[in-house]
Amino acid sequence: MKLSEQQLQEFDELGYIFMPEAFPIAQVEALRHASNEIFSQERPEIWREKNGAPRTAFACHQYSEACSLLASDERLVEPVEQLFGEEVYLHQFKINAKAAFTGEVWQWHQDFPTWHKDDGMPEPRAMNIAVFLDDVLPINGPLMIVPRSHKAGALEASHDLQTTSYPLWTLDNQTVTDLVQNNSILAPTGKAGGLLMFHGNIVHGSAGNITPYPRRIVYLTLSAVSNAIQSPTRPDFIAHRDFTPVKKTSERAFEAFANKAVSALFCTTN
Ligand code: SIN
Ligand code: MN
Repeated sequence: MKLSEQQLQEFDELGYIFMPEAFPIAQVEALRHASNEIFSQERPEIWREKNGAPRTAFACHQYSEACSLLASDERLVEPVEQLFGEEVYLHQFKINAKAAFTGEVWQWHQDFPTWHKDDGMPEPRAMNIAVFLDDVLPINGPLMIVPRSHKAGALEASHDLQTTSYPLWTLDNQTVTDLVQNNSILAPTGKAGGLLMFHGNIVHGSAGNITPYPRRIVYLTLSAVSNAIQSPTRPDFIAHRDFTPVKKTSERAFEAFANKAVSALFCTTN
């Protein structure tokens, strides 16, 4: 899937692109089913909220067929290749669960400073591209972004290990206040199947979810191959060490997998 000239301009100006309902519902259903199976497991790569609710499943593409196929899907990989003008490798893959009633915040941060400081990533030539597995609503802890904040470059941040189980280099309140004064805050919301890509220096975060509606989002972090990390300190399920260019798989391949998975769900054995 190639980005149009208008989308490229929008990305340059605002630092993100949102494509509502990019994935058909049968494909989302297959991913949701996979997500349920993943979070039913106890593994070191699956992190939980302090109360035990699912928070993040890292690197589940290594054992879930649905996620493995998604990790190379052309709809996600091609736009990022286009933006960087070269092949990309998978730096990180995760599902953020943001569980009903219990999903906690992700504090305000930019991604690149964490990749740079913790993993030794040279440049902000990596970015997240995300697929909504549930409807992302104004009320269930949507990802909030500060448009145009990528133009500020990598901002000073501090390592916050206190608030949640998920260590991030976070921004202080004054920095966020100043950026928001000029650019406001925006939350791309929409039905399951929406696709959101955002620059590595976009300021973003999300509030807790006290609604009965889960807000699962799957994120691929794709990095330009020439931008491989130099000095990782995090486990390889968080900062992958395989810098092989992603070999794209077709939308049709995912569609065929999803149709099979969804019909198996409705099949009764007797
Ligand atoms: C992140 O920034 O890594 C995740 C934020 C979210 O899923 O709300
Ligand atoms: Mn982030």
